Amino acid sequence: MRLALVGYGRMGRTIAALAGARGHQVVLVVDEAENPAGQALVPERLRGVEVALEFTTPASAPTNLIRLAEAGVPTVCGTTGWNGDLPRVAGAVRERHGALVHAANFSVGVHLFLRTARELARRFAAHPEFDAFILEEHHARKPDAPSGTALTLQATAAGADPARRFPITSVRAGSIPGNHTLTYDGPHESVALAHEARSREGFAAGALLAAEWLPGHTGVFTFEDVLFGEDR
Ligand SMILES: NC(=O)c1ccc[n+]([C@@H]2O[C@H](COP(=O)([O-])OP(=O)(O)OC[C@H]3O[C@@H](n4cnc5c(N)ncnc54)[C@H](OP(=O)(O)O)[C@@H]3O)[C@@H](O)[C@H]2O)c1
Repeated sequence: MRLALVGYGRMGRTIAALAGARGHQVVLVVDEAENPAGQALVPERLRGVEVALEFTTPASAPTNLIRLAEAGVPTVCGTTGWNGDLPRVAGAVRERHGALVHAANFSVGVHLFLRTARELARRFAAHPEFDAFILEEHHARKPDAPSGTALTLQATAAGADPARRFPITSVRAGSIPGNHTLTYDGPHESVALAHEARSREGFAAGALLAAEWLPGHTGVFTFEDVLFGEDR
């Protein structure tokens, strides 16, 4: 596929590095300096682009996404922190019969892990002799705790087993990219489900998977639509 990268920071560069190996061509890179208020995202420059991948900042993403929809370019957006603008952006995409996949987390493993955690919690709901708890570990520079993924894991497990608490313990140390573990500890045995992120390449691979899925779809989607379709 012919791809455009809107935003060429850590994620944009990681996607560029993986795209070639998956048989794609990056035909356009748009970074901030040339794109105030989405000015660079015009049909002439986007000609021939099959999918754009947008990883910029919360302040830039809504305008970029609307400009891309106006130019008729299906888009994958991984920028976080612009949820308040989603109705406006989704309206612009639908009005033009465009296509957008947006997600705060494009890790395939995390989404499968959360689904599996839901099933684990459902199975353990009938066994109160087990204590359940969540451990999340991240590098020392991560400012927030618990992590967003740990909170999602807690909500997912509680959704399947509302009678149980799922307390979270956070560790901030060293350079751990991100580990999450859901453990059920009983009097005679212990069961643990764990996800360990190794690098941001997992996010880039998921974003490219969404880009490969997008052609032929019309509307506004999340990564769960891409991974699970009707089976959500
Ligand atoms: N969904 C996921 O799985 C996932 C995974 C990782 C990160 N993220 C999110 O993705 C976003 C980018 O992350 P990152 O680590 O790549 O950040 P980053 O390294 O700071 O890169 C962002 C890039 O976007 C550029 N930019 C800002 N405004 C722009 C505009 N109007 N047009 C074009 N480019 C623009 C920035 O340029 P300047 O440097 O010149 O400002 C910078 O190069 C963040 O919101 C992050 O939270 C999502």
